[in-house]
Amino acid sequence: MNDVAAYRNRRERLALNMGRGIAVLSAAPERVRSRDAYHPYRFDSYFYYLTGFREPEAVLVLLAGDTPRSLLFCRDKDPERELWDGPRHGPAGALEKFGFDAAHGIAELEVRLPDLLADQPALFCDLGSDEKWDARIIGWLNAVRARARAGVAAPGEIRDIRVLLDEMRVIKDASELAVMRRAASISAAAHCRAMGVARPGLAEYHLEAELLHEFRRNGAQSPAYPCIVAAGPHACVLHYVENDGPLRDGDLVLIDAGCELDGYASDITRTFPVNGKFTSAQRDIYDLVLAAQAAAMAEIKAGAAWNAPHDAAVRVLTQGLLDLGLLQGGLEEALESAAYTRYYMHRTGHWLGLDVHDAGEYKRQGQWRTLQPGMALTVEPGCYIHPGETVPERYWNIGIRIEDDVVVTPQGREVLTHEVPKSAADIEALMAR
Ligand code: GLY
Ligand code: MN
Ligand code: MN
Repeated sequence: MNDVAAYRNRRERLALNMGRGIAVLSAAPERVRSRDAYHPYRFDSYFYYLTGFREPEAVLVLLAGDTPRSLLFCRDKDPERELWDGPRHGPAGALEKFGFDAAHGIAELEVRLPDLLADQPALFCDLGSDEKWDARIIGWLNAVRARARAGVAAPGEIRDIRVLLDEMRVIKDASELAVMRRAASISAAAHCRAMGVARPGLAEYHLEAELLHEFRRNGAQSPAYPCIVAAGPHACVLHYVENDGPLRDGDLVLIDAGCELDGYASDITRTFPVNGKFTSAQRDIYDLVLAAQAAAMAEIKAGAAWNAPHDAAVRVLTQGLLDLGLLQGGLEEALESAAYTRYYMHRTGHWLGLDVHDAGEYKRQGQWRTLQPGMALTVEPGCYIHPGETVPERYWNIGIRIEDDVVVTPQGREVLTHEVPKSAADIEALMAR
């Protein structure tokens, strides 16, 4: 299936899931960074999922029913603007290249949308994601309502299009998995590069620069989220992003970084010694987190509950923390009281895809949902030890997380990020080269 066919197929599946009615979805707005400078444009994940179209100022309209139709409204060609900002597809180009059934200039939306909404039983949209867009939707609905005496009815039902799209997005198709494999591979190379360069005397930002360099030179458009390069005690700050501290001899450095390639995120964490050799205290905690990750990985298979990897990681971590004297008492009692949350305060994973914390429900009617082939998720246990009276001093300020990206397969799982070493021995071997 080529890309155009993949996007068309998604629109057709969405129309089937809608049953009847009309869907209206906007491209993301451009956002000012400061004064005349804009943030690099990032398309809306839902809009991109259905269109593959990367320009701003575009709207997709999808008519469900016996003969579903998809219409794109987009910027007209404009030689003057294109001279400054680069080429635009224009409606004719969009129609030809993206497989829509019709395409129009964006200005026509104001005129055509009330007609398209008229007498549709349901409107599927994403109310609440952007106030200005919400106001426009309400305006079009009111324009239809104003024609009630002419016998025209506005949609009686407003439905959240995200409910349908989230369920589609949670199972990745073949073309998505191909991009995700490549994104994971680029991020793996970036982590290896950072490990290879690290040494005492550098700063965290030197490693960040290596990551960004490797992402970009392989064609990834940007990081999927701000890189975390956290040395020494910074590793215990979960969302540390300053990346301006020193890499000290004897400290660990935790790197959580992944590129975004053609819209798809990767998300890897590795923790390694700045000088290339783990101390025995660091090794105690490192091997424990690695064992917790292995236990979580083993639970990833079709039919398993979403929570099974987390429960497995927590059990291994808790036993290890007891063995190391970081927790007291018995295993069941420590699990019952969730004593581990002092050192492990986040969950073991999340959906991964167009968004790093991707769309998709985790529970259904109060029950953790079951894993199915095509689901992509992270596995990322960690352990973060703040200084404290009951904490042996040799463990103070150690922060470790190990994170990989995994896809559920009919046979078990595929680890997308396997190219970056993970055992202490393999990391030390890479750093010694
Ligand atoms: N890097 C974001 C996360 O690990 O969830
Ligand atoms: Mn991460
Ligand atoms: Mn993650």
